[in-house]
Amino acid sequence: MKTRFLGNTGVRVSELCFGAMTFGGKGYWTGVGQVQQKEADDLVSTAIENEVNFFDTADVYSEGWSEEILGKALGSKRKEIILATKVRGRTGPGPNDIGLSRKHIIDSCNASLKRLGTDYIDLYQVHSFDPRTPLEETLRALDDLVRDGKVRYIGASNFTGWQLMKALSISDRQNLERFVTLQALYSLIARDLENELVPLSLDQKLGILPWSPLGGGFLTGKYRRGKPRPEGARRSDPTKQFLQFDEERGFDIVDELEKIAGNHKATITQAALNYLLRKPGVASVIIGAKNKEQLTDNLKTTDWEMTPEEVARLDELSKLPRVYPYWMLERMAQDR
Ligand SMILES: NC(=O)c1ccc[n+]([C@@H]2O[C@H](COP(=O)([O-])OP(=O)(O)OC[C@H]3O[C@@H](n4cnc5c(N)ncnc54)[C@H](OP(=O)(O)O)[C@@H]3O)[C@@H](O)[C@H]2O)c1
Repeated sequence: MKTRFLGNTGVRVSELCFGAMTFGGKGYWTGVGQVQQKEADDLVSTAIENEVNFFDTADVYSEGWSEEILGKALGSKRKEIILATKVRGRTGPGPNDIGLSRKHIIDSCNASLKRLGTDYIDLYQVHSFDPRTPLEETLRALDDLVRDGKVRYIGASNFTGWQLMKALSISDRQNLERFVTLQALYSLIARDLENELVPLSLDQKLGILPWSPLGGGFLTGKYRRGKPRPEGARRSDPTKQFLQFDEERGFDIVDELEKIAGNHKATITQAALNYLLRKPGVASVIIGAKNKEQLTDNLKTTDWEMTPEEVARLDELSKLPRVYPYWMLERMAQDR
């Protein structure tokens, strides 16, 4: 598998990153996945055998259990891996068990290190913006963690353009560690970040890490127009969905993915992931899998490359309505 630089750092990560959100199965996360240790060991070693060197989790996934399982599954391989986790979500009932305060960040980092069974985190990401904590406080706490050797790089996830740009300029002005990546929802059914966050990431040299690249399983071919929905899958019940999108549009995209996949003797899933690897700024696509069959399918994504014409067809089919001021700026730029 090819590697790419992790944003503007000198570290190289595999084009596919393995996301461990399906590990464990506690509380809210039960519906996402319940992969236990033995199967996780197999998934992690399969990913590593296929040259994946990048793994992502979060302190909140299955209430910390995902980190524990991933840490054990990596075992002695940990040193060869770029290990990413996140902080920000609620980790306990107390008033300070949430957010991006200095207290919660430092306590959470120590707890993550323990669960992961490691003494450093390669990429420590803030899981989303915290409107209640000054960015200066957050960035200084993250900077301290890097200086202490507990964290190597820091990243952001689920920020708006202004929040992210403000954070980067505070880091620059105060000589603090800077976010090197943006982990964001990005797929053929969710291209919203192309308005603001992609141009920002290119300008600021952040590596984009798409999450839910298959729309939670929708872009795999198991959801088709007029066909019964699969049972026991994350999107089995359309009324209980975290990811909301127009499925009718999605069905058209799946139909086109099927044609493109056919040109390459590939699967619909591989085509959906392959598309994202052709998009500017993407450092690594975070894949999720509930079992070995899914993982093996997804790992074959990098065996082939979608052509620019195929990418253009999907671009056209999946483009979102241009909102102001982007349509106006696009029009003005044509005159220059
Ligand atoms: N920063 C954030 O806020 C955030 C949010 C979400 C995720 N993430 C990260 O992104 C990673 C991936 O997210 P995701 O799990 O939502 O990604 P996804 O690729 O959109 O969905 C993965 C799910 O799709 C189904 N699937 C995957 N491959 C398949 C295949 N080949 N054939 C059929 N079905 C398949 C499986 O669910 P079913 O079998 O149930 O259909 C699998 O759990 C997570 O592990 C996490 O690390 C981050």
